[in-house]
Amino acid sequence: MKRIGVITSGGDAPGTNACVRTIARRGFADGVEVFGIFDSWDGLLKGEVRKLERQDVAGIVQRAGTILRSARSTLFLKQGDAKIAIEALTRQGIEGVIAIGGNGSQTAASLLAQAGFPVVGVPKTIDNDLVGTDFSVGFFTAAEVATQALDNLRATAEAHSRVMIVETMGRDSGWIAVEAGIAGGADLVLIPEHEFTLDAICERLRTRHEVHKRNYSIVIIAEGAMDKDKKLDPRRGTKDLNARPRLGGVGTMLALEIERRLGYNARCTTLGYLQRCAAPIAVDRVLATRLSDFAFDLLLSGKSGFMAALAGRDLEAVPLELVAGKTKLVTDDYFRLAEIFG
Ligand code: F6P
Repeated sequence: MKRIGVITSGGDAPGTNACVRTIARRGFADGVEVFGIFDSWDGLLKGEVRKLERQDVAGIVQRAGTILRSARSTLFLKQGDAKIAIEALTRQGIEGVIAIGGNGSQTAASLLAQAGFPVVGVPKTIDNDLVGTDFSVGFFTAAEVATQALDNLRATAEAHSRVMIVETMGRDSGWIAVEAGIAGGADLVLIPEHEFTLDAICERLRTRHEVHKRNYSIVIIAEGAMDKDKKLDPRRGTKDLNARPRLGGVGTMLALEIERRLGYNARCTTLGYLQRCAAPIAVDRVLATRLSDFAFDLLLSGKSGFMAALAGRDLEAVPLELVAGKTKLVTDDYFRLAEIFG
């Protein structure tokens, strides 16, 4: 294989540029031309493809975002889309692709592989909800941003005797909320995977304030979390242009309920895209480099249809069809840690 493509799709995540840089630099070292596909799959169809040169990937290991830009593309939603993508890739003379992305991207990669095109995936999503890998590129930085927010907000919560709520990203799974909840010592951690009621939450806060005589509380909630009785429904609002529910707001709904039910002052800070745009911390840069280097090896050695994955400290190749369309949920064990030590 002498000409490969690299594409970034889905929500950006810290460490994505470190992935692109690794693949480009392996290309320079191994005599393989690496073509950047810009603006995701839509860009591919428009022919936005260009060979990456050394200056393209110089000084980007520490930069957030993606030099290739990204998008939530609608290609691969219809039958026959893989064929359209393969035709576009073939027109560019591209013989194989490394797809850096989250759930949608690995599903697209899986469809490409099924249609016979050589492809390898690199897991990249702050949500850390890709099955088959212990961690995805971007997660640790997002969790760090959320942890720092908890640390900082504790001061104002205490100063004003308030319940301070921090809303993290996490559409279907609460990995960021749990990780930051443990690291930042949150008093309550609320995630989509774990059922809760407003009564139970309020009772826990009441006990903390009235019995344990604490003047403030810290709550962390994932954007997709919903109480059992659906009083807090994060999907209640409008849809985005891709017809996905526009999340962000459940923390504010919770603050209003707490004020109404307990009479405690409550405020919410929604971290939103600040979790995606932070400079990658060291562990994400190294993870990105290791996974992408391995993905390059897989593709060049003819092992198509796999995602490079982290298993403990080791790297392994996981079949894309085992990853596509699935969500890795927070385990009970891990959530228990947040419940006890948050
Ligand atoms: O990348 C995943 C994610 O971070 C989700 O947690 C969040 O709901 C979503 O992105 C929002 O992304 P966008 O607004 O870019 O579509």
